[in-house]
Amino acid sequence: MREVMGDSEGSESSDRPPRIRAGAAAELTEDAPRLVDLAPRERGKLHRQAVVIRDATDGGRFQAYLNECQHLAIPLGGRSGRLLTEDGKHLICRTHGALYRLNDGFCTEGPCHGTHLTPLALEEDEDGVLWIIDDGADIT
Ligand code: FES
Repeated sequence: MREVMGDSEGSESSDRPPRIRAGAAAELTEDAPRLVDLAPRERGKLHRQAVVIRDATDGGRFQAYLNECQHLAIPLGGRSGRLLTEDGKHLICRTHGALYRLNDGFCTEGPCHGTHLTPLALEEDEDGVLWIIDDGADIT
């Protein structure tokens, strides 16, 4: 199961960079990556999402990556929407089978072997909410 969310907060009233709400940390389980919209959906425009995970291979640490394969710039889950391998140890691109490590996004197998998913800065606030930080890397 996965959920799609994403609200953004601008930086007009503070010096903080814009950030995108990525949901409650406590509700993100190791077996269910969360997809987060990085910008409001607009008809006819490329829609980008982040995949946020609780990394079972790294003590449950949270990670966020741009949900875009390094072979072709398309979402990892394909039509199935399933982002993890059966053993839960890799993110998988369902189009041609590229496997990405959870802890650093490194592609260990597939047509884009040796590349990395694009990492996104992620923080958890005092209320247990995860935020993706738009640090100017053109993620939206
Ligand atoms: S598009 Fe992802 S492996 Fe080819």
